[in-house]
Amino acid sequence: MKKRVFLSASVLAMAAVSSSAVLAQDNTFKIGLILPMTGQQASTGRQIEAAAKLYMAQHGDTVGGKKVQLIVKDDTSVPDVTKRLAQELVVNDKVNVLAGFGITPSAFATAPIATQSKTPMVVMAAGTSSITQSSPYIVRTSFTLAQSSVAMADWAVAKGGIKKVVTLVSDYGPGHDAEKFFKDRYLFNGGTVVDTLRVPMRNPDFAPFLQKVRDAKPDGLFVFVPSGAGAAVMKQFLERGMDKAGIKLIGPGDITDDDQLNDMGDGALGVVTSHFYSAHHPSATNKKFVEAFKKANKGMRPNFMAVGGYDGMRVIYEALKATKGQGGGDALLAAMKGQVWESPRGPMFIDAQTRDVVHNIYLRKVEKVGGELHNVEFDVIKDVKDPGKTK
Ligand code: PHB
Repeated sequence: MKKRVFLSASVLAMAAVSSSAVLAQDNTFKIGLILPMTGQQASTGRQIEAAAKLYMAQHGDTVGGKKVQLIVKDDTSVPDVTKRLAQELVVNDKVNVLAGFGITPSAFATAPIATQSKTPMVVMAAGTSSITQSSPYIVRTSFTLAQSSVAMADWAVAKGGIKKVVTLVSDYGPGHDAEKFFKDRYLFNGGTVVDTLRVPMRNPDFAPFLQKVRDAKPDGLFVFVPSGAGAAVMKQFLERGMDKAGIKLIGPGDITDDDQLNDMGDGALGVVTSHFYSAHHPSATNKKFVEAFKKANKGMRPNFMAVGGYDGMRVIYEALKATKGQGGGDALLAAMKGQVWESPRGPMFIDAQTRDVVHNIYLRKVEKVGGELHNVEFDVIKDVKDPGKTK
């Protein structure tokens, strides 16, 4: 009898231990943030991690009764690694949300894992239109190249006086989108496309392509390269005297990336781009964001990737709040759809049907402000939905 009492007491004790372990785990809300922290795309990882941490510092780490835990993993921008890390985060760490995705192939590689495990996947960086269609669990807070490229095609012909262009894009998803959406709209507007060039995404050598452009003598060169590669293009463009030869450099704002712009030199002055974010965006919300970001990161200027990360955290936090910390993947996803808010980029929302970002696209010109180079906005197209949705 005595033995039996002892046994059941120890079983009870064990049960108590395991249920408190479950409770501890239940009380944690885990975000698996997969980013390129090293390699060619490292600036994207550095910017997004800093922004996510800033968001948490500003909004606390207890939300909907849960303790929010950020687990950062470096995928070195290799899609197979992204996929493996996502699998481990879902199976071993039991993350509630997957987030990050510095490049398009990393987002595509992870989409099936989000679908199978019913885990919301917040795309904070990648910009190929079709990404959101690769899983019903994807929500995007970054941007699409189609959004900015159409805006640029409208400006170039009507206001920029650029009647003849060559396009030069990175040879993968977002580059193909930029080329297609720019070209179709530019031709529709009466412009002439002399040549469409594609450079390898990894370790690109721009020299032979720029020589070809120089020989073709267009009015403008439309360029898309991913964040981090803009400075190299700018340098070679200027070294070849292409600006002096009367060729105007244009493109989505990835080429005048705020992460690098101030070091590009005065040769960048006057370059017109179209984009959803400038660190110089003159709103109170953005001024506060830029100031806090710089303060927390040794003066680093936030770029458009940082804003994708900051807004991604907003979407996750608000979904957690709305579901009072009790929802699974489907409930969280439902609470992410349709969110509307004031971002550092300006007003934005998540289209409830497509789960994609809707925001303003600004036309900007590189100018010197207070001794620093900035993308100064001079026109805006409001509430731009992704033109690249096929359904
Ligand atoms: C992408 O891979 O989708 C991508 C990366 C960097 C950019 C834009 C798009 O600046």
